[in-house]
Amino acid sequence: MKNIVILISGGGSNMAAIVKAAKQQDWERRYGARVAAVVSNKADAKGLVFAREQGIATEVLDHRQFASREDFDAALAQRIDPYQPAVVVLAGFMRILTPGFVQHFAGRMVNIHPSLLPAFTGLHTHQRAIDAGCKFAGCTVHGVTAELDVGPILDQAVVPVLPDDTAETLAARVLTQEHIIYPRAVAALLQQR
Ligand code: GAR
Repeated sequence: MKNIVILISGGGSNMAAIVKAAKQQDWERRYGARVAAVVSNKADAKGLVFAREQGIATEVLDHRQFASREDFDAALAQRIDPYQPAVVVLAGFMRILTPGFVQHFAGRMVNIHPSLLPAFTGLHTHQRAIDAGCKFAGCTVHGVTAELDVGPILDQAVVPVLPDDTAETLAARVLTQEHIIYPRAVAALLQQR
């Protein structure tokens, strides 16, 4: 069985979209794959509730209890490793990862970013797209490399930026597309392996 481990920090709507797609498209039969665990750095991440309701194993590791980023990432890898993941999915996991962690999961970790990379790496992507006068925005699924929000682009979706958009309305429009492309990109990866 190919295990998928999903890392979240908050609402977990992308994680939920992947879990639902796995169920609806029967990823167990099609790809021999299942979402084995959802891991959060925040105990109160809303997504954990959904994951537990779905009967998925959950893990919480509070980054504030570690002296350094390296210590946290080492402990995080130790929590993930027992699942022997074929794919590690970052889904709104709001932590900058150390090179050691990225190296540990090299070639099997993906991220979704709420912009059309390589534009607007980092935070506040929607406001920055509006401020720049962009007519289009979107989201990108990419392989994770040591540099933040850089790495091979696996899938993208485009949405229009409307004249009266706020960061919130644009974020909502982009998020609906995230829920389409992230399950699609993960399924494509599973099919390749
Ligand atoms: C998503 O919009 C995702 O693209 C973004 O956080 C949101 C998480 O939503 N990720 C980043 O900004 C990573 N730098 P979710 O918890 O509902 O999936």
